[in-house]
Amino acid sequence: CGIVGYIGHRQAYSVVVKGLQRLEYRGYDSAGVALLDGDLNVYKKQGKVATLHDFAKDQDIDANVGIGHTRWATHGVPSDRNAHPHVSNSGRLVMIHNGIIENYAAIKTELSKKGYTFNSDTDSEVFINFIEDIFQNTQVDLAEAVRLALTKVVGAYAIVILDKDNPDLVIAARKGSPLVVGLGKDEFFLASDATPIIEYTNEVVYLDDQEIAIIENKKLTIKNIEDVEMKPYIQKVDMELEAIEKGGYEHFMLKEIFEQPRSIGDCLRGRLNAQEGHLHLGGIHDYINKIKNADRILIIACGTSWHAGLVAEYIFEEFCRIPVEVEYASEFRYRNPVVGEKDVVIAISQSGETADTLAAIELAKSKGATILGVCNVVGSSIPRATHAGSYTHAGPEIGVASTKAFTAQISVLTMMALMIANKKGTLKESVYRNLLIELEAVPDKVAKCLDLNAQIELIAEKYKDASNCLYLGRGYNFPVALEGALKLKEISYIHAEGYPAAEMKHGPIALIDENMPVVFIATKDGSYEKIVSNIQEVKARKGQVIAVVTEGDTEIAAMADHIIEVPAAHEALMPLISVIPLQLLSYHIAVMRGCNVDQPRNLAKSVTVE
Ligand code: G6P
Repeated sequence: CGIVGYIGHRQAYSVVVKGLQRLEYRGYDSAGVALLDGDLNVYKKQGKVATLHDFAKDQDIDANVGIGHTRWATHGVPSDRNAHPHVSNSGRLVMIHNGIIENYAAIKTELSKKGYTFNSDTDSEVFINFIEDIFQNTQVDLAEAVRLALTKVVGAYAIVILDKDNPDLVIAARKGSPLVVGLGKDEFFLASDATPIIEYTNEVVYLDDQEIAIIENKKLTIKNIEDVEMKPYIQKVDMELEAIEKGGYEHFMLKEIFEQPRSIGDCLRGRLNAQEGHLHLGGIHDYINKIKNADRILIIACGTSWHAGLVAEYIFEEFCRIPVEVEYASEFRYRNPVVGEKDVVIAISQSGETADTLAAIELAKSKGATILGVCNVVGSSIPRATHAGSYTHAGPEIGVASTKAFTAQISVLTMMALMIANKKGTLKESVYRNLLIELEAVPDKVAKCLDLNAQIELIAEKYKDASNCLYLGRGYNFPVALEGALKLKEISYIHAEGYPAAEMKHGPIALIDENMPVVFIATKDGSYEKIVSNIQEVKARKGQVIAVVTEGDTEIAAMADHIIEVPAAHEALMPLISVIPLQLLSYHIAVMRGCNVDQPRNLAKSVTVE
């Protein structure tokens, strides 16, 4: 979910609604605002922020204090009733909440016994009434009542609360869900990330877990949950407004796909200079020996980031000769994994907020492992929970389906592996130098792939009505097959599966007939001849073959129904190139099917629930 708050001299409604639109990637099944101006006005609607705005714009929206929320449902179906903000029984307190309160049922029972009633099915409504109950039954101020409540709830939250009887007061707190406070002149902004804030101010404070921000009479105070006052650490955000706008593209996803030559370039910049044989990731400098001597590298991530982890597994094992395991964060954290002090964990996350990944980090940390982060959002929770790490510097990614973050993650992980291999001496100097040159050439090769856009659109036209699709690859291109399939199913709702090409004969081959499109990622590498055989197996069963091949390939061209030719590169770097046509293919298919590409149904970009 995304949350926004404002107190100052502007019209709160417009700041909040614009902010919600910027945060809509975090959830979009319902939205609401609460505005305080003597009266407390709450408007909420199931659906997008635009639906809320259509309704609210004709209502009383004059106020200088307001909060807003865009929701990704956890407790209770998406509906007007379950949308935030939630008002307490007395009508005095109003709250927005991102996260989950795990012990809400017990609290709800207690409150019900005391006569509280609930209008929604949410844990959040229980939460605000719990605060109200403490506030009414103790002789403390509201900030203290909030603090006391927070000591008793179990779960994750980012909350912002307003008090109808005190319009000069805003209280916010976080644990497990992100919250940023923007500092303007006599005005304050609150949001789940900095994007709603940057057009007003570049001075922000990222709240830490278990911290409470109290904005009262134009002054910000921060306390922790133990009631100790903390000094706010003011940071400057370095983000341009244009980075979070569509800039002429029809969708954020398309913009982000086309940004990749630049975003990969930004990721390499200052770290890699092939001519001088220079490669350095400053963020992990102090941990080089630790990584070099690791017994094992454990990679933990979710979704697309997990696919980047799989690519990294192949690269690290090949270059550094260190055993690597790649785990879904959600599986890792709930079993009893064997982790020791000589393990290095790499946590990969675009948002830096994924709840499962964060919890997996804490688990591995408690067992003594060294934790490195590969994240995109600066200042987010994961980089703060890790010992060290490298940012991907892809810029804000807004489309829910990850594209440029994926290629930036692979770029950083490749640099890490090369740096370690070089220090460890597991790569011949000439091979290492050649790989640096190859890596530096990737942005130009990605740009060449983007020139294929029109051709890919024509292929998309042919397959847009498919109901299934298979993606096959081997070696470095196997994770690319998984990612290609994920992209298609996420945004077009076509069922798609990625598989190692050789495994096809152990199952998926049964699905193949003349209606089954099969996308092969079959660029020239060590397993080329093998994958050619796999293509023949599919053609023999009348499957439709779309093959991503290396420029100039005639062998596959003679067999496949369609080929997409991409520039050649070292096989370890191929995923950075071969994934581009697959991103474009799923984008065009989704657009042709009339799907909401940037905000696919049921998904959210930043998953702060478990
Ligand atoms: C969600 C997003 C995916 C993303 C995954 C992991 O499911 O929709 O695009 O890959 O979370 O997110 P992270 O921010 O940790 O990379």
